[in-house]
Amino acid sequence: MPDHPLSSSPDAVTRILGIESSCDETGVALVETRDQAAPRLLAHALHSQIAMHQAYGGVVPELASRDHIRRVLPLTAQVMREAGHVLADIDVVAYTRGPGLAGALLVGAGVACALGAALGKPVLGVHHLEGHLLSPFLSADPPEFPFVALLVSGGHTQLMRVDGVGQYQLLGETIDDAAGEAFDKSAKLMGLGYPGGPALAKLAEQGDPAAFKLPRPLLHSGDLDFSFAGLKTAVLTQSQRLRQVSDEEFEARKADLAASTQAAIVDVLVKKSLAALETTGLKRLVVAGGVGANKALRAQLNAACANPRRRGGVVRVHYPELHLCTDNGAMIALAAAMRLQSGQQRALPAASFEVKPRWPLDAITVATA
Ligand code: KG4
Ligand code: ZN
Repeated sequence: MPDHPLSSSPDAVTRILGIESSCDETGVALVETRDQAAPRLLAHALHSQIAMHQAYGGVVPELASRDHIRRVLPLTAQVMREAGHVLADIDVVAYTRGPGLAGALLVGAGVACALGAALGKPVLGVHHLEGHLLSPFLSADPPEFPFVALLVSGGHTQLMRVDGVGQYQLLGETIDDAAGEAFDKSAKLMGLGYPGGPALAKLAEQGDPAAFKLPRPLLHSGDLDFSFAGLKTAVLTQSQRLRQVSDEEFEARKADLAASTQAAIVDVLVKKSLAALETTGLKRLVVAGGVGANKALRAQLNAACANPRRRGGVVRVHYPELHLCTDNGAMIALAAAMRLQSGQQRALPAASFEVKPRWPLDAITVATA
């Protein structure tokens, strides 16, 4: 077994299979690297469990784990077929080591390590948020280091200073709910089902964002932290008020409430991102994670960052391709590729494995599988 797949020869091709199973999406992808050239996505496949969890109004961890078991090998076969490769062509098997649901993570880790052992290939555990953070490197307009990253997913809202692969400094984060959670919980209160973010965003298109005055917690706190729990309470109060008038009144004003909720979340995310750019003096912003798919967020960030009168001047904003904003295997294979290329981590034979359901991004350790 090669000790380090990228060190065998300067022009060596390394094919990395990535497996994502941290929550409610099973994602598999094959990425190819040639020495230090930008990694190339050969194929990827995804199965979303949304339909399965919808009946329960949220992710049921045990059902998620069982479904990952059902999906991961057929998706792997599909990826290999679409990439025109066979399993023996894989050089490294990468998987999401954390953070996420313990049982769901164990499925991806177990399959990756079994595959590695069967093929005689090394494996590498990847931090899920690092996958999100690096995912814009697969886009047509990849960023360059250093940059400020706004990580906005269902479980995390963080601003990071990113100086290179593995060089992450936390600038601020949510002290309670994540931005995605604020979308999801508000949507649930409005009866919009799961997952709430896209549903609330769609309804908001027909509403007036100034119709309801909703709180923007910590907007002027002077630091780069976020708080969204109070917003959810305000949405609850407004929903109850409308319902007390009548169900018709609630239905008639729902789009306005959705638009106002989205405006409050987006407003805070934009202002804090701009503050992070000012504090660091950096000229690039990378937006990643599921909430990064939100059109209103993209429009307002683009407008604010393109403003030449902004203190600090114009800023380039980079996003992952829209279909790679939410969880997927491509970002895991990519992060593994970039960690190997940068020498931050080695892929190792998998004698055993562990997952990390809780794992701060700035605590990634070097040279662990
Ligand atoms: O990154 P992700 O797929 O999973 C986690 O790692 O958490 O993010 C999922 C989150 C959910 O909260 C979902 O509602 C939100 O991203 N989301 C959106 C949109 N698409 C996904 N929120 C607002 N607008 C969207 N278009
Ligand atoms: Zn995610």
